[in-house]
Amino acid sequence: MTFLVLIPTVAGAICKFIVLPSTMATSGSISLLCLLVVLCFSSSPAMAQPLYQVCDNTGNYTANSTYKSNLDLLLSSLASNGSLSGFYNGTTGRSPDQVSGIVLCRGDVATADCSSCLATAGQVLLQLCPNRRGATVWYDDCLVRYSNNQSFFSSTDNSPWRTW
Ligand SMILES: *[C@@H]1O[C@H](CO)[C@@H](O)[C@H](O)[C@H]1NC(C)=O
Ligand SMILES: *[C@@H]1O[C@H](CO)[C@@H](O)[C@H](O)[C@H]1NC(C)=O
Ligand SMILES: *[C@@H]1O[C@H](CO)[C@@H](O)[C@H](O)[C@H]1NC(C)=O
Ligand SMILES: *[C@@H]1O[C@H](CO)[C@@H](O)[C@H](O)[C@H]1NC(C)=O
Ligand SMILES: *[C@@H]1O[C@H](CO)[C@@H](O)[C@H](O)[C@H]1NC(C)=O
Repeated sequence: MTFLVLIPTVAGAICKFIVLPSTMATSGSISLLCLLVVLCFSSSPAMAQPLYQVCDNTGNYTANSTYKSNLDLLLSSLASNGSLSGFYNGTTGRSPDQVSGIVLCRGDVATADCSSCLATAGQVLLQLCPNRRGATVWYDDCLVRYSNNQSFFSSTDNSPWRTW
């Protein structure tokens, strides 16, 4: 572990040492190489970038609200139920605090990968779209969408999951 942590630090220090004193003409390819090395070792695999995300403009909930606790319940239920079949929709709570959601995994994704993608996506949504009453995030392996409007299950709008 110590070794892995040291690599980006050492690479960064060496890059500065090499690149800074050089002229622009000769440092170009070296700095590109250094940039690649640093990027390669410093990128964190923990939180992958979504392919696509949308924060709905249908209103905001407040912290500790009933809506938020319904949303938390829904996201965990969607992730656990959804990973079994690769598809799940659900609703929690009662209007006006009702939350509906849908999850989907790509057909060739293994159950374990589907499960972790759905769990990550649910948490990422809460961070990407804080307090939003509706949001969608789309990864390579899965899609998670929730909304305060249940009719999106059957809507014919141009949502990304319809064209997937
Ligand atoms: C919800 O909150 C966001 C960020 O604070 C804000 O930009 C947006 O206008 C709000 N939406 C509504 C409908 O109040
Ligand atoms: C929400 O609840 C937590 C813990 O119960 C509390 O610390 C926090 O201040 C509350 N936030 C709001 C906005 O009420
Ligand atoms: C699946 O969904 C149902 C109903 O939405 C819920 O009661 C149940 O707890 C969920 N299962 C799991 C394993 O979360
Ligand atoms: C899932 O979606 C269907 C429509 O496609 C809807 O009839 C059903 O009520 C939804 N299930 C839940 C639990 O919301
Ligand atoms: C819910 O969504 C449907 C279809 O997108 C839309 O026609 C309806 O007005 C929405 N309802 C609310 C309360 O936003």
